[in-house]
Amino acid sequence: MTKRVAILISGGGSNMVSLVRSMTGDHPARPCLVLANSADAGGLARAAEMGVPTEVVDHRPHKGDRASFEDALHDVIASHAPDIICLAGFMRVLTEGFVSRWQGRMINIHPSLLPKYRGLHTHARALEAGETEAGCTVHEVTAALDDGPILGQARVPVREGDTPETLAARVLESEHRLYPAVLRRFAAGDRTPIWLE
Ligand code: GRF
Repeated sequence: MTKRVAILISGGGSNMVSLVRSMTGDHPARPCLVLANSADAGGLARAAEMGVPTEVVDHRPHKGDRASFEDALHDVIASHAPDIICLAGFMRVLTEGFVSRWQGRMINIHPSLLPKYRGLHTHARALEAGETEAGCTVHEVTAALDDGPILGQARVPVREGDTPETLAARVLESEHRLYPAVLRRFAAGDRTPIWLE
């Protein structure tokens, strides 16, 4: 049975584009929704161009009431009946209240080699620490931030003179390879981690 995949974004959605483009042919999944927490997320137009239904659940009207935002988010997502949720540059922290309703069916990509550098500004922190390699991680989403079981990692060398921007761009290229590979395996019910160099 073909799995239905909802992808949550906040910005340009380059990971979303890679995921949508990968779900063709004998891939066990197809995109059913791209949802953003802001109407000005650039990825919404890219999703529409690829024929994927889009939705916006703006977090700002729910300011100060995270549960209200997450209830609205859940209802809209559920109305599209996904089997899997992919967070792809989605910049809202999700609480236990939301995660518990999707646990085991929700994955995320994070731009560091977890468990190192959970949270934000991962590349600046890695450079500051003098790391010689960086990378990205796809993991199952649990209530703890950037902490669920690892489903895949890609290692990326840090180069002399790298800035957070140049490193981010190099890691992003790896994200676009890793996330589709992990989703294909995850959608087939296989949680064996994928390690890319
Ligand atoms: C990516 O670096 C991703 O790892 C992080 O958000 C960034 C933007 O991704 N979670 P995208 O271009 O919006 O997919």
